[in-house]
Amino acid sequence: MNNQTIAIIGAGNLGLAIFKGLEKGGLLETNPVILTKRDLSSLEKISQRQVMITTDNVKAVQSADVVILAVQPKQLIGVLEEIKDHIDPKRHTLVSVITAVTIAQIEQVIGKDCAIVRAMPNTAIAALQSMTCIACNSLGQAKLGLVHSIFDCVGKTMEIHEELMQAATVVCASGIAFWMRFIRATTQGGVQLGFDAEDAQQIAVQTCLGAASLLADNGGHPEKEIDRVTTPQGCTISGLNEMEHHGLSSALIKGLVTSFERINAMKKD
Ligand SMILES: NC(=O)c1ccc[n+]([C@@H]2O[C@H](COP(=O)([O-])OP(=O)(O)OC[C@H]3O[C@@H](n4cnc5c(N)ncnc54)[C@H](OP(=O)(O)O)[C@@H]3O)[C@@H](O)[C@H]2O)c1
Repeated sequence: MNNQTIAIIGAGNLGLAIFKGLEKGGLLETNPVILTKRDLSSLEKISQRQVMITTDNVKAVQSADVVILAVQPKQLIGVLEEIKDHIDPKRHTLVSVITAVTIAQIEQVIGKDCAIVRAMPNTAIAALQSMTCIACNSLGQAKLGLVHSIFDCVGKTMEIHEELMQAATVVCASGIAFWMRFIRATTQGGVQLGFDAEDAQQIAVQTCLGAASLLADNGGHPEKEIDRVTTPQGCTISGLNEMEHHGLSSALIKGLVTSFERINAMKKD
């Protein structure tokens, strides 16, 4: 991807994580980026040549080819109203990372046919390890290659049906918080077993990465990997079964379902 100007409207947590990912992934070298927000003080340290920082969303859209919408859901309508007259369907691809806002709702506000892609990345984008699910409208089909090149450079990308976007939000975006809590709990356990907190966290993080890599590398099944490390009557199976007696898998699944129900309720609010 070359010479495509990317505007990130709403350079907050996720918008900035996307920017950092694009920078680390090398996309900034050939594609200029524009970052917008109303209060620019948090962006003062950004000084790369290829980056423009502004409060002016209209100017950003006028200069951009790809417009990534990364404001909070309640801020979206105002932003769309502000930029809609400056969206050129021949030029622009709109990419929304906003939770629980459908492509149809965006189309309704902008009032014209334009390529729209919904993307659900996670904050691991800043470490080039996002899992990003994408879905698009019919005009967006032709721009999927472009959107893939953005998100492929910051992790893995999967095309899904838009109806699965709420589920993707839970598993990809909220998933970061769930895995963090697992790592935190493992660290706490490690401290109780004698490690200092820093060492315990390093061990927990690397072991988590190792477990994920085993599956990412060979596409195997988690239970097969579990079988490899559980000796009959051994310590691993004893600990694992104790966790399951306390509802480990069940708690995780119930948590995912609760997040999913909440996100669906938000959609109706
Ligand atoms: N965090 C995640 O893991 C994650 C994952 C997937 C999707 N999302 C979605 O991504 C969106 C952003 O989430 P976030 O956590 O990054 O929120 P956030 O930190 O609040 O970022 C939103 C940013 O938008 C800016 N903003 C607000 N109104 C604006 C306007 N009119 N023009 C330009 N900028 C404006 C805000 O800065 P100012 O107040 O200075 O303008 C703020 O920095 C949400 O819709 C969320 O659902 C988040």
